[in-house]
Amino acid sequence: MTTILGTRLPLIQGALAQLSTAPLVSAVSAAGGLGVLTTVDLTPTTLAAAIAAVRAATDQPFGVNLMLQQPNMAALIPYLIEHPVPVVTTSAGTPKAFCAALQAVGTKVVAVIPSVKVARKMVALGVDALVAEGMESGGHIGTSTTFSLVQQVTAAVDLPVFAAGGIADSTGVRAAEALGAVGVQSGTAFLLAQETPIAPAYQQALIAADDTATVVTGRALGDAVRCLANPLTAAYFAAEADGADAAALHALLDGSLGRAIAGDVDHGTMMAGQIAGKLTQVASAQAIVQAMYA
Ligand SMILES: Cc1cc2nc3c(=O)[nH]c(=O)nc-3n(C[C@H](O)[C@H](O)[C@H](O)COP(=O)(O)O)c2cc1C
Repeated sequence: MTTILGTRLPLIQGALAQLSTAPLVSAVSAAGGLGVLTTVDLTPTTLAAAIAAVRAATDQPFGVNLMLQQPNMAALIPYLIEHPVPVVTTSAGTPKAFCAALQAVGTKVVAVIPSVKVARKMVALGVDALVAEGMESGGHIGTSTTFSLVQQVTAAVDLPVFAAGGIADSTGVRAAEALGAVGVQSGTAFLLAQETPIAPAYQQALIAADDTATVVTGRALGDAVRCLANPLTAAYFAAEADGADAAALHALLDGSLGRAIAGDVDHGTMMAGQIAGKLTQVASAQAIVQAMYA
């Protein structure tokens, strides 16, 4: 697996919308994992600058994440075919239209999947590897738990599978390997990296979180998101119970990750996985990598 990624460790730092920018990505890659750039809100010009910043900081492989529901995909995909990067990870959709074109320029395509059914579709497409992401994860989630999903995906397909959802240290890594995964993708743990451009109040909320601190908003909108419970999530569930329509629910949630990142921990969405309860401190990306692979 490390041969496919070109990394020393079978560890992917999961893309973190608006947060996995060049400082975090280059630090993870330099530490032996695969740092993955977020492309949320980027244009080809700002993506080029982010890629250049990673390359200036490390000669190690890195990835670029394509969240396929984002409106900028039509501009970024042609850019990445013209200007290849080592790895592209895809989520929230199918890379069918461009997978072969990326591979033709030497890019490995890793698809994040929530079910065996989607895993099989990705195998048929010819992707290089899979991330099986359970619903313990922070951010946008499916419905299967990591424990059930990973062992069924690894049994069903003949591709390297990384486990994601609930993994923050070597205990999680060993569990993932026992389920048949070749490695892991971790997201929530890297929210506590010194290199992550996130408000201290969001990081302190993660440290204060216990095992039951997260809730899932957006189910009524077909867009389930795991995040820390706070006054915003309480307002969301109250509005849902009152029969608020989709527009009203969107008005509460849209743009709310940005508010949390800026430090408004009452009115922002603090995306986080259930493993937040195990996190105790802000640390360097390198230390977070070493906690998973000593
Ligand atoms: C704040 C936050 C933002 C995320 N943004 C993205 C994203 O833009 N694209 C994506 O594919 N996954 C995204 N994820 C999912 C992570 O890449 C990763 O798969 C997930 O966090 C793994 O589970 P864990 O949170 O239990 O470690 C995000 C997760 C979090 C916590």
